[in-house]
Amino acid sequence: MNKTALTVHQIARPHGFPTADHFAFIESTLPEPAAGSALVENLYWSVDPYHREMMDDVPGGFALDAPLEGRTIGRVIASRTPRLAEGELVFHRQGWRTHAAVTPEEIRRLPRFEGVPLTAYLSTLGGTGLTAYVGLTRIARLQEGEDLFVSAAAGGVGTATGRFARLLGAGRLVGSAGSAAKVGHLTREVGYDAVFNYHDGPAADLLAKAAPDGIDVFVDNVGGEQLAAAVGVLREFGRIVRVGTISQYNTPGTASAIFNYADIVEKSIRMEGFLVSNYRDMQEELYEFAVPHLQSGRLPLDETVLDGFEHIVDAFLGMLRGENTGKIIVRDRTEASSVR
Ligand SMILES: NC(=O)c1ccc[n+]([C@@H]2O[C@H](COP(=O)([O-])OP(=O)(O)OC[C@H]3O[C@@H](n4cnc5c(N)ncnc54)[C@H](OP(=O)(O)O)[C@@H]3O)[C@@H](O)[C@H]2O)c1
Repeated sequence: MNKTALTVHQIARPHGFPTADHFAFIESTLPEPAAGSALVENLYWSVDPYHREMMDDVPGGFALDAPLEGRTIGRVIASRTPRLAEGELVFHRQGWRTHAAVTPEEIRRLPRFEGVPLTAYLSTLGGTGLTAYVGLTRIARLQEGEDLFVSAAAGGVGTATGRFARLLGAGRLVGSAGSAAKVGHLTREVGYDAVFNYHDGPAADLLAKAAPDGIDVFVDNVGGEQLAAAVGVLREFGRIVRVGTISQYNTPGTASAIFNYADIVEKSIRMEGFLVSNYRDMQEELYEFAVPHLQSGRLPLDETVLDGFEHIVDAFLGMLRGENTGKIIVRDRTEASSVR
């Protein structure tokens, strides 16, 4: 067992794009679990776009010089409660640290499904997959044969949305991503019919070419000019699922997209945003939908896994720069060698 713990703190507020200098790795002795709690050695960490939003001085944001929260999976290594057994795997939200002292109320037990790796609980079966599933089934209320456009299609939510949409019987699947390699991956591997690189020109032109007959649903991870472009090509009774606005997270204060408001009325478009945290009750339904497909091989996992807790800040910054394909996950080195 390691004798010391590492915890990441945010030590300064970024103005624009964050860098490694905004974070510090703090070494300490292992946390002592109080009576009624247990010590967890963390094995997998999720770093997410919302962490960037929390880096600003906003209500509920990260405090400076304090541990950062995040979705994490770890193993109980010492317990002072009969409700948490040594060796048990648990999910908790004390992210960005090698060890955490947790109470039974702070953890969730993960169901184990034959053949499904632990990373899936942070990607397709985790908050990322749940976001995609809620967006398609509850917000868009996707019908068989309907045509979709997904922005940031090569990311965690974007790949899950594309794969789920195919399994739900979607029609034409159009996506956008930030590199030629991602465009290739989405069309060859994920099942998208047409994908454009949004750096290649005005989004309105690129989308009009990729979706010449229009779309029924837009799953929007990005906002900005791609949102305005989608309003233009949506058909009558189209739906816009507002998932995120990553084009603005590093430029707080930027004016939001200007789109044709009259289109919303004349085409009877519905635009609805949501937070996955309000749909936790759909977790079981996601398992029922996705697990059989994961087990049969019809639903591959899209993940970029970085090994070594010391890379957690690099993983986060790389995700903001678009270096990930699928969900970005950080894995402990010992766990990496044990799953090979
Ligand atoms: N509503 C909710 O409850 C909820 C839950 C989870 C996530 N989200 C949102 O969903 C979106 C995707 O999250 P994720 O976890 O799946 O992350 P992700 O898509 O795996 O990673 C972020 C991706 O965003 C793209 N990106 C970065 N800057 C961009 C820009 N200026 N314009 C366009 N694309 C840009 C990058 O890909 P490229 O190489 O393609 O640029 C990058 O890979 C985010 O907006 C996030 O906040 C919302």
